[in-house]
Amino acid sequence: MIEITARKKYGDRVVLDIDKLRFEKGRVYALIGTNGSGKSTLLQALAKVIDFKGDVKGLTGKDVAYMPQKSFAFSTSVLANVTAPCPIHRIFTERAKAKRLLKSLALDHLSKKNASRLSGGETQRVALARMLVAPHDFLLLDEPSASLDVESTLISEEVLMDYLERTGCTLIFATHSIAQAKRLADEVIVLDGGKVVERGFTDQVLENPENDKTRSFLEQFNR
Ligand SMILES: Nc1ncnc2c1ncn2[C@@H]1O[C@H](COP(=O)(O)OP(=O)(O)OP(=O)(O)O)[C@@H](O)[C@H]1O
Ligand SMILES: [Mg+2]
Repeated sequence: MIEITARKKYGDRVVLDIDKLRFEKGRVYALIGTNGSGKSTLLQALAKVIDFKGDVKGLTGKDVAYMPQKSFAFSTSVLANVTAPCPIHRIFTERAKAKRLLKSLALDHLSKKNASRLSGGETQRVALARMLVAPHDFLLLDEPSASLDVESTLISEEVLMDYLERTGCTLIFATHSIAQAKRLADEVIVLDGGKVVERGFTDQVLENPENDKTRSFLEQFNR
């Protein structure tokens, strides 16, 4: 289990104010909320890529992989982008694994292409492949399919779910897609103004929200 307490200010503004938010091992959590509600900041705090007041318990020595909201690619081949985090002495086996991943993400035809010349959606799928080439205990994905078309979104979700089944990894991801939260998540965490306003089982939160903020956030999807 991991537990985070975090308070983050930019200038005078508190953008994250979280008290003892817990995540159980092997479960899938969706972070939802409006633009600026603190989803990315929470993931950044969990990944410890920003300074904040508070702490993250239970992540010491564990392997965390974090995919930021803006996907990046190194100016080298797509295949080399995917194997970038792999230890050099295992590069031959890892390369075979990376090729299989690229195939399952329908990217194999691009494996020799320079990744800096990919489309936004292709870059995002390559970034996902880079996350999934090695086993991790925790995966933190910030809007992993924001740039993807419907078919690529569903393919990526399948690859991701297969990875979770094989590794028992815990997934925490931010999304603006309620349908995606329903497909993937065991639990949903709703953020508003940097605070958790509601959390619970996916169906419960999305079908029968208890909090007014959650209710008005979800209503916009029926427009
Ligand atoms: N580096 C920064 N400097 C100043 N303010 C920041 C910085 N990063 C984030 N913020 C502010 O913190 C607040 C929370 O931002 P965050 O990126 O966590 O929101 P979000 O829920 O991920 O939004 P989105 O749905 O647009 O991705 C926003 O109001 C944002 O403007
Ligand atoms: Mg964000």
